[in-house]
Amino acid sequence: MASGAGSNFEALVEACRSKRLAAEVVLLVVNNPGCGAEQRAARLQVPCQRINHRDHASRESLDNALIAAFRQARVDLVVMAGWMRIVTPLLVEAYPDRLINIHPSLLPSFRGVDAVGQALAAGVQLSGCTAHLVRPEVDAGPVLVQAAVPVLDGDDHDSLTARIQLQEHRILPLAVALTAAQLAAYGAAPAAADAQG
Ligand code: GRF
Repeated sequence: MASGAGSNFEALVEACRSKRLAAEVVLLVVNNPGCGAEQRAARLQVPCQRINHRDHASRESLDNALIAAFRQARVDLVVMAGWMRIVTPLLVEAYPDRLINIHPSLLPSFRGVDAVGQALAAGVQLSGCTAHLVRPEVDAGPVLVQAAVPVLDGDDHDSLTARIQLQEHRILPLAVALTAAQLAAYGAAPAAADAQG
């Protein structure tokens, strides 16, 4: 699932194709017509479906369309790779312990929109990114993988975002592998993983 540039989507495809990740990206869903992710899918020859939230009267209606697309494509695991819409419990419960999000902060710090801007405004010396299982509460849920990224003197929004994104591209495939391993071992993530942190 992607809404924007799609660099995380491409990182996942590359991880699969280079055999670093034993998985296959069978479908990309985008909500914004013409977004970078859609263009990358065409170049990478990954099937892409456009499910525009503007065509749906409610978040639930959008999520039902997503679920239908994923069921048709027989996906095992769903990644919100820069999906800029709040999802409802419908989607979370359709893919229990197999719905992953990537967020550009060290959660639980700086949830919500513009996490990089929030970190810069707070003046922290360390930021980073988090791949986590999705729960109905926004940017909550068990952490799968985090990477710390120092905030350097003179960093601006663009420079910090770029360094965080390099780490996102590294940890997102790891998070998919970890989730798949947990599912294989337990049938679901262990209950202990439900604790934050
Ligand atoms: C990433 O920074 C991710 O953390 C956030 O949205 C951004 C998506 O970037 N959720 P891209 O579209 O994968 O390049």
